[in-house]
Amino acid sequence: MTARPLRLGVLISGRGNNLQALIDACAAPGFPAEIALVVSNVAGAAGLDRARAAGVPVAVVDHKAFPGREPFEAAVTAQLEATGVGLVCLAGFMRLLTPGFVERWRDRLINIHPSLLPAYKGLDTHARAIADGARFSGCTVHFVRPDMDAGPIVVQAAVPVAQDDTPETLAARILTSELEIYPLAVRLIAEGRVAVEDERVRIRDGSALPAPAVNPPPGA
Ligand code: GAR
Repeated sequence: MTARPLRLGVLISGRGNNLQALIDACAAPGFPAEIALVVSNVAGAAGLDRARAAGVPVAVVDHKAFPGREPFEAAVTAQLEATGVGLVCLAGFMRLLTPGFVERWRDRLINIHPSLLPAYKGLDTHARAIADGARFSGCTVHFVRPDMDAGPIVVQAAVPVAQDDTPETLAARILTSELEIYPLAVRLIAEGRVAVEDERVRIRDGSALPAPAVNPPPGA
C-alpha cells in the first residue's frame, strides 16, 4: 500500500521558479507530495500563471485588502486548511510572517532562502556576498521560526562565487541549485525522513542524499 501524498500549500509573491520546480517534481510518478493550493499575495504574480497552466488550484489573498498582518494570515490559513494542506512551502513569498502564523504551522512550514544561512539573512544576499569577497554562497531550505530567515536547516547547497560575478549572475547560478534542493527537501519531509531534534534537523538515511544537489560543481 502506498502512503497518500503529502499535500503542499505553496505561498508565492512573484515569478515562481521554485514553484515550477515543485510542480515538476510533483508531476513525476511516485513523488510523495502533491500541490493542493498555490496562494499569492500579489494578484499579478507570474507564478500564478505557472500554477494555472499546470492545473493547480490558486488563491489570491491580497495583503493590501486586510487591516493588518493577522487578518491577512488568518485568511491564508483558512485557504490552506480548506484544502487539507499538510506542509506550507514559502517560495519567493515576500511578506514577513507573525509569530502566530509561524507557530500555527510549526515544523510544517518551510522556506527557501538564497544564501548559506545563517549568513546573509534578509535581502540583497548576492550583492552582500560579493561585496564581502565570499568564495561560496548558496541556498538553504529551512523550517521557519519567528525570527527572520532562522530555523532548523533541512538542505543546503554551496555555490561558488566567481571573481567577476554580478548579483545577477550569482543569483542565476544559485537559483539553479534552489530548483534542485527545494524538491529534495520536500521529498525528504514527505517521506517522513526529517525530524527536528533540539532545533536541528536529523535526516534518516542522509548519506544516500544525491551529492550534486547538496554541493553542485561549479557551472553545473
Ligand atoms: C528565490 O531566489 C528565493 O530564494 C528568494 O526569492 C526568489 C524567488 O524566486 N526568496 C527570498 O529571498 C526569501 N527571503 P522565484 O519566485 O522565481 O522562485
